[in-house]
Amino acid sequence: MFFIMTHMDFLKKFKRFNPLEPSLTIVGFFFAAILFITCFFYIDYNALLRSHGKSLFSFHFSSLSSSIQFLSQQGDNCDVFDGNWVWDDTYPLYHSSNCSFLDQGFRCSENGRPDSFYTKWRWQPKDCNLPRFDARKMLENLRNKRLVFVGDSIGRNQWESLLCMLSSVVTNKSSVYEVNGNPITKHTGFLAFKFDDFNCTVEYYRSPFLVVQGRPPPGAPGQVRLTLRVDRMDWNSHRWRGADVLVLNAGHWWNYEKTIKTGCYFQIGEEVKMNMSTEDAFRRSVETVVDWITRELNRNKTYVLFRTYAPVHFRGGDWNTGGGCHMETLPDLGSLPVLSDVHFSTVTDVLSEHVRKSNVLNVDLLNVTQMSVRRKDGHMSIYYLGQDHTAAMQRQDCSHWCLPGVPDSWNEILYALLLKKEGFSKQNTTNVSQILI
Ligand SMILES: *[C@@H]1O[C@H](CO)[C@@H](O)[C@H](O)[C@H]1NC(C)=O
Ligand SMILES: *[C@@H]1O[C@H](CO)[C@@H](O)[C@H](O)[C@H]1NC(C)=O
Ligand SMILES: *[C@@H]1O[C@H](CO)[C@@H](O)[C@H](O)[C@H]1NC(C)=O
Ligand SMILES: *[C@@H]1O[C@H](CO)[C@@H](O)[C@H](O)[C@H]1NC(C)=O
Ligand SMILES: *[C@@H]1O[C@H](CO)[C@@H](O)[C@H](O)[C@H]1NC(C)=O
Ligand SMILES: *[C@@H]1O[C@H](CO)[C@@H](O)[C@H](O)[C@H]1NC(C)=O
Ligand SMILES: *[C@@H]1O[C@H](CO)[C@@H](O)[C@H](O)[C@H]1NC(C)=O
Ligand SMILES: *[C@@H]1O[C@H](CO)[C@@H](O)[C@H](O)[C@H]1NC(C)=O
Repeated sequence: MFFIMTHMDFLKKFKRFNPLEPSLTIVGFFFAAILFITCFFYIDYNALLRSHGKSLFSFHFSSLSSSIQFLSQQGDNCDVFDGNWVWDDTYPLYHSSNCSFLDQGFRCSENGRPDSFYTKWRWQPKDCNLPRFDARKMLENLRNKRLVFVGDSIGRNQWESLLCMLSSVVTNKSSVYEVNGNPITKHTGFLAFKFDDFNCTVEYYRSPFLVVQGRPPPGAPGQVRLTLRVDRMDWNSHRWRGADVLVLNAGHWWNYEKTIKTGCYFQIGEEVKMNMSTEDAFRRSVETVVDWITRELNRNKTYVLFRTYAPVHFRGGDWNTGGGCHMETLPDLGSLPVLSDVHFSTVTDVLSEHVRKSNVLNVDLLNVTQMSVRRKDGHMSIYYLGQDHTAAMQRQDCSHWCLPGVPDSWNEILYALLLKKEGFSKQNTTNVSQILI
């Protein structure tokens, strides 16, 4: 949502604090108090795990031994996004210290997060099982292919997760490299990592709006600093066109604060629509994206996934008003109210409209919103500044996710969908009905 920029901002602001300020003493006391409380919570949680561990595990094993098939070929009736989080001691799938493809901000444990329970939850669909993630198999499926992520920094979050998941099986670390030699950190344009042994690339393009953002047309009113051309795809979109798998996301930047408030208005053709709401503009931009998919993509080649909105978990305020998720160490495992997010319904509305018109679109929804709503424990909170700093309590990040963590599960589902995709791997078609845990 406000990744690179805001993290840098945070860092600057952090450094601007005068260490001799008397208020620091107060902050010190605050931290000590928090630490004290955390200790108790930790002990409490261990006790809780001991008492409930057995039932968690028996659930886990009974679901493993169940005979429900993974994404059954005939019925196709399993909603893999409907399920729950189950404790799994074999998780996480990798360790951040062993993965060189992570921005510092995502390395929560290395940045001082004391608990690691958040790395131990596996997504369990209600009516079927997901295949156990097999990096080698995924790389084999991606041989000679391009997998492209496009979107905001949550898309980057997911992309880096996948890089770690895949590279965990590559022993020759220098066989995975950025094709232009760019470092992964603080890079804002696009990055393409190649897995040499498989001749495949896993790429990320930063494009939080998916449409063009640029200077206003001549004669626009004075308060218009920038415009979003909601009828025109991002200039970089020609680079996405040849992808074999394209994972799009948008949503987090489509709000008043990040657009109109900063002088960024919406434009259609040559006209700036001074009165257009962000909701209408977002809908229009999703229509533009779907049109582009219909017109420009080879639907025999490119499999498009639209990842739905990743929920944020600020409590007691928003990201810029001191809201927080610190010391959330457990997911919500009970039933939750269905989230009615405008970004979510816009994407699904537009997509289903188009699917009604022509049901040959090679597009699926990566419907992660509801499953991720339960994971208030999965965010970085104050652990995004590196080993030597902790963010101020009023500067928590409850929108990005710790890695390893929740985006790994999105990628496990992506893996499952790719395996299921008929004829995706032409060299060696996977027999889907054999893919059981
Ligand atoms: C997304 O998943 C949730 C949870 O299973 C479900 O309630 C919702 O209907 C799904 N939405 C779409 C558009 O598939
Ligand atoms: C990192 O990888 C090495 C070798 O691949 C392994 O021995 C070590 O246990 C790993 N560390 C973690 C924390 O997983
Ligand atoms: C590597 O993959 C690209 C597509 O990403 C393909 O055009 C190229 O022919 C492949 N190279 C080899 C040696 O197979
Ligand atoms: C490791 O990968 C690099 C790049 O693909 C290659 O040049 C090198 O020979 C590989 N090293 C080994 C030991 O396989
Ligand atoms: C836009 O909004 C302004 C102020 O709310 C109003 O005066 C104007 O008539 C509106 N213009 C259009 C084209 O709706
Ligand atoms: C896609 O495949 C179908 C059936 O195999 C074929 O008729 C069609 O021409 C192909 N379209 C493109 C754009 O290659
Ligand atoms: C196809 O899969 C089988 C079984 O996993 C494997 O033995 C075979 O080598 C694979 N073939 C190719 C061309 O990758
Ligand atoms: C796929 O698996 C099913 C069930 O095990 C089997 O009946 C079928 O022959 C297999 N198909 C192929 C192409 O291997």
